[in-house]
Amino acid sequence: MMDRREILDWLRCTDSQQLERLWQQADRLRQEQVGDAVHLRGLVEISNHCARACHYCGLRAANQAIGRYRMSEEEVFACALAAQHLGYGTLVLQSGEDDGIKADWLAGLIRRIKNATPLALTLSLGERSDDALAAWREAGADRYLLRFETSDRALYRAIHPDRGSRVSDRIAILGKLRALGYETGSGVMVGIPGQRYETLADDLLLCRELDLDMIGIGPFIAHPQTPLWQAQSPLSAEDQVPPTIDMTCKAVALARILRPDANIPATTAVAVMNASLGRELALRRGANVIMPNLTPPQYRELYAIYPGKADRIETAEAGDNQIRAQVLALGRTVGSGPGGRSGRSDTERQSPEPGPVPPVSLKIAVCMGSSCFSRGNNGQTIETLRHCVEAAGLVPEITGHLCENLCTQGPHVTIGDTLYSNVQASCFAELLRHHLASGKEGIDG
Ligand code: 5AD
Repeated sequence: MMDRREILDWLRCTDSQQLERLWQQADRLRQEQVGDAVHLRGLVEISNHCARACHYCGLRAANQAIGRYRMSEEEVFACALAAQHLGYGTLVLQSGEDDGIKADWLAGLIRRIKNATPLALTLSLGERSDDALAAWREAGADRYLLRFETSDRALYRAIHPDRGSRVSDRIAILGKLRALGYETGSGVMVGIPGQRYETLADDLLLCRELDLDMIGIGPFIAHPQTPLWQAQSPLSAEDQVPPTIDMTCKAVALARILRPDANIPATTAVAVMNASLGRELALRRGANVIMPNLTPPQYRELYAIYPGKADRIETAEAGDNQIRAQVLALGRTVGSGPGGRSGRSDTERQSPEPGPVPPVSLKIAVCMGSSCFSRGNNGQTIETLRHCVEAAGLVPEITGHLCENLCTQGPHVTIGDTLYSNVQASCFAELLRHHLASGKEGIDG
């Protein structure tokens, strides 16, 4: 059991060799407890309207510099189908605290998505009424995300003003969510001006105490249209937690150690802070979830919680390809199914006896003739194919064969009974998805 003193020592540690021990411990626990699968949760930012005045968030009501949008039922539903098509097990619906999202409207949409797809559904819609939370759970929502942001009550009140006379108590709401049967997720920002090392240690201990199913931790990124833009910390540099990738990774690693079987995302904020390495570092230091953004491109830029969030990736498919490649390059696989806490979804938990699922195998034949070999069908390619098939939740049966006299269009790969030409390893995940989605035969078991 790691205690507060030890957590604080790690948070203050700057010795990279010692920190290597922390990263390794977190990574080992991650592998033991939740495995190598990285779960992809398709994120749809359904509305950027917000009634709140949070000092850190660009969606705050007072920010008139952004256009506001609310997606229609059909738009959200289309995103759910896209998530299913991309092979995701979970859809996350996120928004500002938007009173325009009526409880009945969303309950209907939740039912429609749950009826039409096998997706687990996560909501992240702010502090909503008990009745709305109950109605959405009743309609089939599985999980709810609500970060408590910081465990320091005074700091919380300072950056997260109450809404009128309603006192904001997110810890109490998390308890209600749990009682309603939601898997609950929460978490904090790292490096909020005024956040002490002691506070961050307490944040992490609170994550353990709340027995969270999901823990989201990201660096604070100042937004120009908020009161915290260029804010001076009231603390000395020695006491103020810096909003860095390294500090965020420490918090992620410690969260993994404190709650070994939780689902912990490599958050978007980490990827925004360091586009080339952020996600990878978090995944190697305790994280096991990524939330690819499926919000239609015309809305992305408007969902500006913090600057830099609307990345360069135009389409859901392009983002998906990049994320899958990143995951495979780390030697990890892409999770299949809902990927709830301990690998089980609420729905699975409630179904009486799921029964054993037989392994499904996929036959792949790779042309190893010298021409195809020199164009890329080599050991590395086969390794990539194997990863991709496993990542799709199938058991690969890969064989090699010699030249089929089609060399000018090589490299060749046969999936099931279908021969594909000009196959590049980097596009194989995409090809495989198309193959499986097209329902071509060749899948046994
Ligand atoms: N920087 C980083 N994270 C932020 N969030 C909100 N504003 C910022 C910011 N400026 C986080 C909060 C919120 C989640 C949806 O995004 O933790 O709960």
